[in-house]
Amino acid sequence: MMNDRERNRAYRRAIEATVRPGDLVLDIGTGAGVTALMAARAGGHVVTCESNPHTAFLADRVIRANGYGGRITLIPASSTELVVGRDLPGPPDVVTAEIFDCGLIGESALRALDHAHRELISATTRLVPRGGRLWAQLVESESLHGLNQVGEVEGFDLSPFNAASTRGYFPGRVDRHPHTVLAPAFRLLDFDFGEPPAPRTRHLTVPVTADGTAHALVMWFELDLGGGIRVSNHSAGSGHWEQAVQTFPAPVAVRAGTAVRLTARHDLDALSLGLEAVRP
Ligand SMILES: C[S@@+](CC[C@H](N)C(=O)[O-])C[C@H]1O[C@@H](n2cnc3c(N)ncnc32)[C@H](O)[C@@H]1O
Repeated sequence: MMNDRERNRAYRRAIEATVRPGDLVLDIGTGAGVTALMAARAGGHVVTCESNPHTAFLADRVIRANGYGGRITLIPASSTELVVGRDLPGPPDVVTAEIFDCGLIGESALRALDHAHRELISATTRLVPRGGRLWAQLVESESLHGLNQVGEVEGFDLSPFNAASTRGYFPGRVDRHPHTVLAPAFRLLDFDFGEPPAPRTRHLTVPVTADGTAHALVMWFELDLGGGIRVSNHSAGSGHWEQAVQTFPAPVAVRAGTAVRLTARHDLDALSLGLEAVRP
C-alpha cells in the first residue's frame, strides 16, 4: 500500500489542493503516517489517529524521523473514540482518510464517517475523499467461484464444507482468473461522504448481454478526492488494491436479452448481495 505510487500521488495532489496553511487537519487512520505527513507538509496542524497500537508505535517513529513531531499529534486510538475539546481543539477544517478496502466499505469506513459527522466535524469541514462509487460487473468464472466454493473433489462431495464459505466479498485479481463478462459494468452504489451515511437497500435490474452462468459479481471503486482527482482499483490500474469478488453460492444460468435482479444491502460495516434471474 505504501509503495502504491498511483494512490500516493492522488492523495498528495488532493491534500495539497485542499489543505491551507494553518488548517486543523484530522487524519483518520495513520498507518505509516503518509497522509498525515502530506497534510503537515501542506501547512496543516495535524491530529492523526491509529486504532492499531503497534502501527501507531511505528508511525510515531516515522513522524519524528521526518521532523514533523511538532506539527502532528498522533493519538493511538480509533477515530470513534476521539472527542472535540479533548483530542482536537475544535472541529477540523479538513478530514483526510484512507481507510478503504477493495470493496470500499469493508474496513468500517462508513462507521468512522458516521461518528465524524455526529461528533467531530462541522458543516464547513472539507473531506478528502469527498465520496466514492462502487462499480460492478456480472461474470461467468468457475475459477473465481472456486476461490470460495467447493464441490466434487477426487470423487468426493465436499459441498457441506461450503457452510464455511465467505458470505461477503473478498479481494481477488480478476485478470488472473479466466472469466466471461455477462453484462456491461454498472454503478452499484454511490457514497457522498459529505452526508452522514445510512444503511441502504437497492434493487437493480441488470440486463444480460451474453449466455452463461453468473458465478460472481466483480466490483471496484472510484474514490473522488476532489478537484477531479480520482483513485480506483479497476483491474486496468496498477495500484495495490485487488478487486472485490462476491461469489454466488447458487450460480444463476442466464441468457442474453434477459435480466437478473440484484439486491445490494449495506449497513455501516458490510455489504451483502443477492442475485436472482428475472423470468422473461
Ligand atoms: C489503509 S491504511 C492507510 C494509512 C495511511 N493514512 C496512508 O494513507 O498510507 C489505514 C489505517 O487506518 C487504520 N484505521 C482504520 N480505521 C480507523 C479508524 N476509524 N480510526 C483509527 N484508525 C483506523 C488501520 O489500522 C490502518 O493502519
